[in-house]
Amino acid sequence: MSNSAPRKVIYDTDPGVDDAMALYYALAHPGIDIVGITTTFGNVTVEQAATNALYLSALAGRAVPVTRGAARPWVKPGEAPPAHIHGDDGLGNLPQRAPHALVLDPRPSAQFIVDMARAHPGEITLVAVGPLGNLAAALLLEPQLPQWVQEVIVMGGTVLEPGNVSPVAEANVWNDPHAADIVFNAGWQITMVGLDVTHRLILPVSLFARIAAHHQHSATDTLLHAVNFYAGFYSDLYPHVAAIHGCFGHDVLAFIYLTNPELFGLEHGRVRVIADGLAQGQTVLRRKTIPYPQPGWDPQTPATAVCMQLDHTGAADVFTRTMLGD
Ligand code: BDR
Ligand code: CA
Repeated sequence: MSNSAPRKVIYDTDPGVDDAMALYYALAHPGIDIVGITTTFGNVTVEQAATNALYLSALAGRAVPVTRGAARPWVKPGEAPPAHIHGDDGLGNLPQRAPHALVLDPRPSAQFIVDMARAHPGEITLVAVGPLGNLAAALLLEPQLPQWVQEVIVMGGTVLEPGNVSPVAEANVWNDPHAADIVFNAGWQITMVGLDVTHRLILPVSLFARIAAHHQHSATDTLLHAVNFYAGFYSDLYPHVAAIHGCFGHDVLAFIYLTNPELFGLEHGRVRVIADGLAQGQTVLRRKTIPYPQPGWDPQTPATAVCMQLDHTGAADVFTRTMLGD
């Protein structure tokens, strides 16, 4: 990332352990200015997501505006949050929480996104790492939004890598496939950071222990506790992750794409989301310029940039250096 002014980012999130990891990367990075955190259901209920976003901000000493947004999917019925992955509280079942004085911004997440984009046309980047209901609702509120937003980076979806909730679906897209299809086809500059790359970044718990020992701070202690819980889930599931007692850095890769796009290999094409049926939540990338005749596959819609390759050593280095900085 160049030495230009930090990028103004609204972080749309469902914290969530890897969401917390990503937040602390973003807050630590000099090239990123988090101007708001918009929360959604997903890893936890939206109430818990908002509580966690406020708590993580307070621990880091950063009074970022936090809003509450989508409580359920647009169309399909909601599901119980995955407490076995992120803990009942979304942060690996913290033994206690310190009191703090931060309170929610009263606006719904979608309204906050529209207000900020209107106030800073061409300057706001949306980094979305949960189900996409807030972004879809913002598009409905303000059809001009795609012209005002600088860029959208989504952690979600997968093209070639098997899904993590079904053989074809990634969790964020699965949780609200109707909203995701709207967001991928809204006509803004959008990048998909999906399992094709996030499954290449495995971060060991020992790294978070090193970060916590370096800072001696309640924020990085909390992150270490949460990541240790999260790594237990992934280590039970994947032997190669268990080998280093680690976890995937899903959400933080969306920010690493923002700060270090040179670490990623991209393909471009129209992304559609299968909304119903056995393949619900699948993200399909239409790469070629063959004139497919079926409605819905026309090539006119601006393409999504889809991350397909990652320099995972480079990404882990960037993460480590940023988290060990001031
Ligand atoms: C995504 O799903 C959530 O569990 C994670 O926070 C991440 O955003 C990975 O599929
Ligand atoms: Ca997430």
